[in-house]
Amino acid sequence: MRRVVIRGGLVVTATDEIEADVLVEGERVAALAERGSDAAQGWTADHVIDATGKYVIPGGVDAHTHMELPFGGTSASDTFETGTRAAAWGGTTTVVDFAVQSKGQALRDGLDAWYAKAAGHCAIDYAFHMILSDVTDASLKEMDLLVDEGITSFKLFMAYPGVFYSDDGQILRAMQRAAGNGGTIMMHAENGIAIDVLVEQALAAGRTDPRYHGEVRKVLLEAEATHRAVQLARVAGGPPLYVVHVSAEEAVRELAVARDAGLPVFGETCPQYLFLSTDNLAEPDFEGAKYVCSTPLRPREHQAALWRGLRTDDLQVVSTDHCPFCFSGQKELGRGDFSKIPNGIPGVENRMDLLHQAVVEGHISRRRWIDIACAAPARMFGLYGRKGTIAPGADADIVVYDPAAEQTLSAETHHMNVDYSAYEGKRITGQVVTVLSRGRTVIDERRYTGRAGHGVFLPRATCQYVN
Ligand code: URP
Ligand code: ZN
Ligand code: ZN
Ligand code: ZN
Repeated sequence: MRRVVIRGGLVVTATDEIEADVLVEGERVAALAERGSDAAQGWTADHVIDATGKYVIPGGVDAHTHMELPFGGTSASDTFETGTRAAAWGGTTTVVDFAVQSKGQALRDGLDAWYAKAAGHCAIDYAFHMILSDVTDASLKEMDLLVDEGITSFKLFMAYPGVFYSDDGQILRAMQRAAGNGGTIMMHAENGIAIDVLVEQALAAGRTDPRYHGEVRKVLLEAEATHRAVQLARVAGGPPLYVVHVSAEEAVRELAVARDAGLPVFGETCPQYLFLSTDNLAEPDFEGAKYVCSTPLRPREHQAALWRGLRTDDLQVVSTDHCPFCFSGQKELGRGDFSKIPNGIPGVENRMDLLHQAVVEGHISRRRWIDIACAAPARMFGLYGRKGTIAPGADADIVVYDPAAEQTLSAETHHMNVDYSAYEGKRITGQVVTVLSRGRTVIDERRYTGRAGHGVFLPRATCQYVN
């Protein structure tokens, strides 16, 4: 078995910071030992990685990606091959993508299509959530089978009428089923029926620019839907409820109230809500289209509440909602009608760096960085133990991170298959140096050494996160 020793670094997990060497045997972490200790001195290795002056952190777990998603009349521009390679470059070693049930389709068929897209193409390990867009007696029964197969979370949409939308009755039924089978309900919490009225009125009044996407998708309609989701989950018997892409202060407040009442309610936010704002949506010459996603970017004032929520554990996870569409030819579909701009922002490669920048700027601690980006998403989605930490027995998904390196984010240098960066020109202190995925070096001192097909499908346990 190949033995790798990572020497001289500061091992940072969600709970500890220790000057330790790490021994990897084959695909797993075999041991940690205090730097300079007899144990560490005695290790023999086929390969030694010098991590002096660097952090040694768990590979990132991005619990929200959309590779190759057909959406908005086009398809997300990263394939599983390009998207997982970009993830590796950015220090993420697990993605949980969303398989889609289309209207009239069995969950089985939607899921099989996703297995086929991903199998043999991924540079890092991957798992799936299931999007439910047709809650019927048959699909409810299928939910039980999916949980047994390791697809233990189901996304429902209060938004996008006519596409992914479920009404409250369908949502209640799916929640009841999840309460019985151990599944987690993920919610896109925006009142899509009301938003569609406002979209129609805005377009009729000639308000067609990208910034109106942000104006019609109102904060109140995110907060209202979040509140409704919490109450429906309670009525259904309390399956874990994970609200995705939380962007508004008022929505965080709804989550805080639910969590203070002891309910198993959780929240995710994304780097775009922490670092971008409606100012970006208002950029001239249709540039705002680059920032169209749902929930939408909010006025800058909301960011303080998101950071606070991350510190106080009212929000647990930062994932990307990586859903890239090129400006040229894809975002452009919505010139003259913001409602036709495909919704989504690229970011799978940038998340670990942006959150390290948040450490540098004092928004979160170093351990909280690892918690929200690695440990909490792993626990939330039943991967903890294998993923999200560095401990004996865990998969050797390890990143050597240089906290002092300086870099500038740009489409010129990123590896995502998309023709712009939402963070173009942003200066970051910190950079990924080397990445191991199950013991194999996939980034070696900023050279890609991975391969499509190394990544394996991860069947997941149910939610391991305790309030
Ligand atoms: O704009 C977004 N978020 N696109 C992806 C689909 C979704 O709602 O997560
Ligand atoms: Zn969504
Ligand atoms: Zn999404
Ligand atoms: Zn090497």
